Amino acid sequence: MINVGLIGYGTVGKGVYERIVQTKELEALLGDSVVIKTILVKDRQKTRANHEEVVVTTEWDEFSQVADFDVIFEAIGGIEPAFSYTSFFLEKGIPVITANKKLVAEKGHVLESLAKLNQTYYGYEAAVAGGIPIINSLKGVLASTSISRISGILNGTTNYILTEMIDYNRSFADVLLEAQQLGYAETDPTDDLDGYDAWYKIRILSRLCFGKWPKEDDLKREGISRVEDWHVELGEKFGFKLKLIGEAWNSGTEVIGGVAPAFLTSTEPLVNVRGVTNGISIEGAAIDQLLFIGPGAGKEATANSMVEDFLFYKRSKQYERATVTKAVEHNPYSHVLVCI
Ligand code: NDP
Ligand code: HSE
Repeated sequence: MINVGLIGYGTVGKGVYERIVQTKELEALLGDSVVIKTILVKDRQKTRANHEEVVVTTEWDEFSQVADFDVIFEAIGGIEPAFSYTSFFLEKGIPVITANKKLVAEKGHVLESLAKLNQTYYGYEAAVAGGIPIINSLKGVLASTSISRISGILNGTTNYILTEMIDYNRSFADVLLEAQQLGYAETDPTDDLDGYDAWYKIRILSRLCFGKWPKEDDLKREGISRVEDWHVELGEKFGFKLKLIGEAWNSGTEVIGGVAPAFLTSTEPLVNVRGVTNGISIEGAAIDQLLFIGPGAGKEATANSMVEDFLFYKRSKQYERATVTKAVEHNPYSHVLVCI
């Protein structure tokens, strides 16, 4: 029996619970049954569905004392206490699977080292682009492929807002509220709107593509908070679509890039990526350009990535991306960054 500990039972945590309980195929693939044993949450006052044989607790001491966890799924967000909780289990050699991009971007180097030291796994497939399997593609089937540039629409909430505003003439406030109700937005939606969420994701992707964590100042950040109607209207007049783009490339000496609103021309492959969908383009000499398009946020897509991440680890154990990257001399990307 594989005993699961679940930290967080919000949009993503509930998705993981349902995905595990409802997927009978997991047992066949793992050769063992998967059982959610204990769930750690924060708010004592919240009324929750009663799941038989699952302990739901707000007490870390109680949760951390469970002796026989085989894997932890972390879906609470933020640095602390997520960092301490994750370290605690990795130090015990227990794999931790996360959707927490902020923690991976800021402390991923420490947690990955800790996992390696303790011969276990820190998995963060779900932390970038929800349901798109970009992380394990880079570590797995593209492990030795040289990549010179990565770019994409990495935040579902802002793409949803821009799409609904531009295509259906809806108000910003209305669409933001809807994105929150649908469970797409971060607890503090300024993380989405000011570009932090996409910035964490491009940092994580840069590290994988180019072999080193970029310096914070080398990746700029601008969200959509300062986008005004006239920016959008001007773009539409000339046949451009406004998107929040994250990109990074290897200049030869460093990794450069960032997150900013950008006008995409009608020939850009990502121009038709609409709504909560994300799109990622990776470029390299051998692959020319690969495109990944799929759900960027939401309960089912994110939970699917978390469960697949664990399965991937259990079935392959060892996988790591080699440092293979080739510099590009200039930025040939055809969209124009909006300077506002
Ligand atoms: P929610 O706000 O819906 O849920 C958060 C959960 O974490 C709640 O159950 C909350 O407890 C629990 N929690 C918060 N703080 C603590 C704490 N200190 N100790 C124990 N439990 C805690 O968030 P989401 O599910 O949307 O997001 C979770 C993570 O997944 C974030 O890192 C987010 O960035 C990431 N993510 C989210 C996606 C999405 O589409 N929503 C997609 C990809 C990644 P309580 O129930 O008591 O309030
Ligand atoms: N708030 C994030 C988004 C969740 O909208 O993309 C997925 O990481």
